Amino acid sequence: MAVVVTGASKGIGSAIAERFLREGARVGIMDADVAAGQAYAQACASEGKPVFFAAADITDPGAVKAAAADLVGALGGLQVLVNCAGAVRGESLEETNDETWRWNVDVNLNGAFSVSRAVLPQLLTNKRSAIVNVSSVNALMTIGVPAYSAAKAGMLALTRSFATEYASRGLRANAVLPGTIRTSAWDDRIEKNPGVMEKMNAWYPGGAVGRPEDVAAAVAFLASEEAAFINGSSLVVDGGLTSGHHRMIQDFL
Ligand SMILES: NC(=O)c1ccc[n+]([C@@H]2O[C@H](COP(=O)([O-])OP(=O)(O)OC[C@H]3O[C@@H](n4cnc5c(N)ncnc54)[C@H](O)[C@@H]3O)[C@@H](O)[C@H]2O)c1
Repeated sequence: MAVVVTGASKGIGSAIAERFLREGARVGIMDADVAAGQAYAQACASEGKPVFFAAADITDPGAVKAAAADLVGALGGLQVLVNCAGAVRGESLEETNDETWRWNVDVNLNGAFSVSRAVLPQLLTNKRSAIVNVSSVNALMTIGVPAYSAAKAGMLALTRSFATEYASRGLRANAVLPGTIRTSAWDDRIEKNPGVMEKMNAWYPGGAVGRPEDVAAAVAFLASEEAAFINGSSLVVDGGLTSGHHRMIQDFL
């Protein structure tokens, strides 16, 4: 099986790449961070793992097209696309101007559309293929960064469109919605607010935020034949964060 994972130079994306490698897949990585992407691919190659890297900022459709062609060529086909690249800017509406809004929508929604479109012809050459989009619990509830939340909610609509339009041609599309996962995406916040992860843990009913591997397991399941009849779904991977207000319940106990 051949898989392309965007944003897999680090964080959740690398955990997804690792998971597919363990399952015997060949993995192509598309990421804007060239140094991290090349270092990761070289480390994998030195361990004999079939990983290929192509640099592209997913907000640049021309670069995406070229990188997609390179990866599909190196992999010798493609059965699964995971749109994982994403980033955040702007904490509140007050802080969000037109530029911030467009930036978040470009990185977190338009990029996934461009990559999906670039590899779609290749995916459709298979009898069965899958797209898994990495959205966020921010798509479901207001927990800051409004432009990012809107983009991640848009990603769910994009997922459902792919799911319905291409199902008859063997393509399924699903989304995972992670809660807080400790990755480098949190480094800046931790630097400004060293206790932030401990505070985050308290918001989770199980008392802890998630790990990149938790998201990778859900992605691998949705991409697999085990999920053959699951199409257009949005799977929260959040330890129960969006299931209710457990801190509120504790207050009236
Ligand atoms: N970490 C969390 O708490 C969390 C929670 C919910 C959803 N997510 C989502 O999971 C995904 C991965 O997040 P992470 O925590 O691993 O972040 P991360 O910052 O550790 O990794 C993100 C990767 O995406 C790449 N990337 C960012 N913008 C890009 C662009 N324009 N073009 C190409 N590559 C780009 C980065 O270079 C990096 O390698 C993102 O889509 C994020 O929104 C993360």
